[in-house]
Amino acid sequence: MTNQPAQAAPEQPVDMIIFGGGGDLAARKLLPALYMAHLHRNLPPETRIIAVGRKNWTIDDYRTFMNEQSRPFIDQQAFDATAWDRFLGLFQYVVIDVNAAEDYARLKEASRQEAIRVFYLSTSPELFTTICDNLSAAGLVDEHSRVVLEKPLGHDLASAREINESVGRHFAEPQIYRIDHYLGKETVQNLMVLRFGNPIFGPLWQAPYIRSVQITVAETVGVGSRAGFYDHTGALRDMVQNHLLQLLCIVAMEPPVSLDADAVRDEKLKVLRSLRPMTLADIARDTVRGQYAAGAVDGKPVQGYIEEDNVPADSRAETFVALRAHINNWRWANVPFFLRTGKRMQKRQSEIVIEFADLPFSIFPSGPRNYGNRLVIQLQPEESIQLQMLAKEPGSGMNMLPVNLNLDLQQAIPERRAEAYERLLIDVIRGRLTHFMRRDELEAAWQWVEPILSGWQELHDRPRPYTAGTYGPAASSALLAREGMSWAEEA
Ligand code: BG6
Repeated sequence: MTNQPAQAAPEQPVDMIIFGGGGDLAARKLLPALYMAHLHRNLPPETRIIAVGRKNWTIDDYRTFMNEQSRPFIDQQAFDATAWDRFLGLFQYVVIDVNAAEDYARLKEASRQEAIRVFYLSTSPELFTTICDNLSAAGLVDEHSRVVLEKPLGHDLASAREINESVGRHFAEPQIYRIDHYLGKETVQNLMVLRFGNPIFGPLWQAPYIRSVQITVAETVGVGSRAGFYDHTGALRDMVQNHLLQLLCIVAMEPPVSLDADAVRDEKLKVLRSLRPMTLADIARDTVRGQYAAGAVDGKPVQGYIEEDNVPADSRAETFVALRAHINNWRWANVPFFLRTGKRMQKRQSEIVIEFADLPFSIFPSGPRNYGNRLVIQLQPEESIQLQMLAKEPGSGMNMLPVNLNLDLQQAIPERRAEAYERLLIDVIRGRLTHFMRRDELEAAWQWVEPILSGWQELHDRPRPYTAGTYGPAASSALLAREGMSWAEEA
């Protein structure tokens, strides 16, 4: 085992205060992540967790909620009844109507003056301002406090700015942790090591040695019970504005001067600011919106988006986006970045594909035409890195065949991988901001995305239907085909 030395835990005790403590995200992600951190002794001693909710529950009711709603989301192999009981013992439950300023006195009573108070806002973003105003008025915010903001961080640039302004009135920027859980994934963090720890890639990681970059985040799940949120959000806001653009930043950024939060975030910001703004003509030509229609996923029939609960019959929400982006800088001039994400696709698969340039000239009489080496970095479901190359076909000729250099990272390093939320919550507790978005990054991402949203409206663009269980509408393949390229699975 190659365990890293644990980073110093803070000297002050920590009160983790979860607004939306009785909600879905808390049950499915936050509480299991905190349990795993507790199990692996990554919570500082004397940590307390205060769940805040509107429901008039006692602490016993809350523990019942944890047992019923949260425990099923813990990997059963990692479940330890004694540790779970001790974990339950860390909790308090405080009833608060977040709009009622006087209720916050109860929180003041429950939390410790000498503790680092971490406020995790797992609520709708419309409540962020009120909560921060009320926390501050109740004297709960000091220079040690931290606030964690869950996505969606705004619906557009103006609302993102509004949130940033109002939270910023009470918390300084280094106290604000904007979560993008993709930055907490082991595989995403590993990309930094791949790029900046392996000198072999340095000289090749740029135009003209790279022909294109593909970033795919494909899901098999549908919208589920989230239509109320999803139908006025769509895939561009839900996935591209944050997760896919963050992946693009890590692929495209210059080497940061160190791993310090601002050093890394400065480089990502430069990438976001170098994204070529899309004109209306670009939007019409270089973006594809899709919406899933009935089909089959994993051999089971599934309904179309329109038939899902709470989706209006004339919904124009996109459940799929593919687009071509360009980065206007020396490193990436003329290298297209193809981004794609969708629900109800054929496979759950997130990958980054670096397609290297063709041979300038081939001395071999036969072989696959237009063959470029590809580096395929698979992030989900399995973590692997593959280099696609050509080798000689055994025999008397000089025929070439595609083969793979294959690295299965789980096999190479079988250590436990913490889930994204566990890693990020530990980062918050230890005051590490590197894997959180800074205000200017968030706003730069919105600045690039917003014209696409308004462009679609102006063009009266409707999402194209695609059969559930496929790779999206045919127009997505055409986006690459017109440049003589194809998505990795079509190659
Ligand atoms: C969330 C989106 O941010 O990410 C969801 O709101 C999406 O719609 C999810 O399903 C995907 O995350 P993961 O970790 O399962 O790839």
